[in-house]
Amino acid sequence: MTFGAGPRGPGVLVIEPMGNAGRFLVEAADQLGLRLYAATHKDIYDGYPGWLRSAFAEVCATDLTDTQRALRDMEVFCRHRAVAGVAACFELFTPLAALLAERVGLPGNDPLLAWAARNKILMGEAFAAARITAPRWAVVHDAAEAHQVARSHELGWPLVVKPAEQGGSWGVSVVDGPDQLTCAVGAAQQYTHAFPHGLKLDTRALVQEYIPGEEYSCETVVAAGVAYPLPIVRKDTTEGRYRIETGHTCPSGLASPLARTVQHTAARAALAVGVRNGIAHTEVKIPPGAETPYVIETGARLPGDNLCEIVEAATGVREAVAYLQAVLGRVPDTVASRTDAATIRFLLPERGGVLRRVDIPETPGTHSELHLRPGETVPEPADSACRIGHVVARAATVDHARELADQVAAHSRVEVS
Ligand SMILES: Nc1ncnc2c1ncn2[C@@H]1O[C@H](COP(=O)(O)OP(=O)(O)O)[C@@H](O)[C@H]1O
Ligand SMILES: [Mg+2]
Repeated sequence: MTFGAGPRGPGVLVIEPMGNAGRFLVEAADQLGLRLYAATHKDIYDGYPGWLRSAFAEVCATDLTDTQRALRDMEVFCRHRAVAGVAACFELFTPLAALLAERVGLPGNDPLLAWAARNKILMGEAFAAARITAPRWAVVHDAAEAHQVARSHELGWPLVVKPAEQGGSWGVSVVDGPDQLTCAVGAAQQYTHAFPHGLKLDTRALVQEYIPGEEYSCETVVAAGVAYPLPIVRKDTTEGRYRIETGHTCPSGLASPLARTVQHTAARAALAVGVRNGIAHTEVKIPPGAETPYVIETGARLPGDNLCEIVEAATGVREAVAYLQAVLGRVPDTVASRTDAATIRFLLPERGGVLRRVDIPETPGTHSELHLRPGETVPEPADSACRIGHVVARAATVDHARELADQVAAHSRVEVS
């Protein structure tokens, strides 16, 4: 498939650009004058929105769930077009990107460690090997094993139960006592294949120690093994059994030295899972009064949830530009050029059902987007799939940005029945 993209500089192959960060990669490639190629399944490509389709000079149509076939197809594609870099958008394909980069001789991540950025069991092992502070955990194959772990009292209560391979809080539960454990393990093990490619998933579950406190995320761009920390973002989530991300704010409000410790920890986590030429999105929690962040997870990819937009609006740092520079073997541009503030807030339903009506008021300094339309099914609020829309607010200060977003959320109307 060939499309009429204009003449451009070096080419980068993006393995499955469909996803939140795809849009930011497309904008970044424009800014850098790069030619973009996509690798995906033909039927998934056919479902891309028009703007995404027109962003790619050519598409390598393959089966990303068949690693050997995908590597062969993408290698031939890259060699014929002298592709200069490989980027991944989807967390589950980050090991594939590392393998491809190595095969074609392009800057990439350590293929031996790359699975640790996708699979939380291997991630836990990689963090332990690198002595990174993270929740204690056990791997379980079924509910009986989870009960055994709970009875040992080594991890205490509450416990967090989560799938080995998934994202968006899908299948993650915070469990207060043994009566909820069987159900939580069932929720964590419900995904055998990932949407939409049908990639087979590791269905084992993790049982983790619960870490209290505030939550933050921080990207690290790594070029030739050198880690460059990016701005920290404060995360808001629901409380209780299901922890859905409800919003993100930059700057984070964390002061040094804790802020520098978070960036340092995020960089160590990125390096621990083999990120060498790319970017990592790391999530941490800091217990009240503590000086050491606990790493909840890291992924060898750009962040989701429009965080690229929030970080750029607040600081001027264009994370997708830095990522493309890193995969091309260039020095990434990570210098902040602004000291503003931005926040994103997601609209969540109180329960699942059918979306009857949604109104988000227009307020200066904000813009909003709907994820679901009236008539569509709203999933139960157990993970990020239930989000109905979001509002982004930009202002000179964090307080003002959050206030604007709160106002819009308070005056929004969501009817689900
Ligand atoms: N060990 C833990 N202690 C406390 N909260 C946790 C723990 N693990 C996960 N969470 C909460 O659940 C959310 C989702 O878990 P996470 O491991 O990030 O999975 P996902 O890959 O689905 O994002 C986190 O953002 C955090 O709020
Ligand atoms: Mg997470």
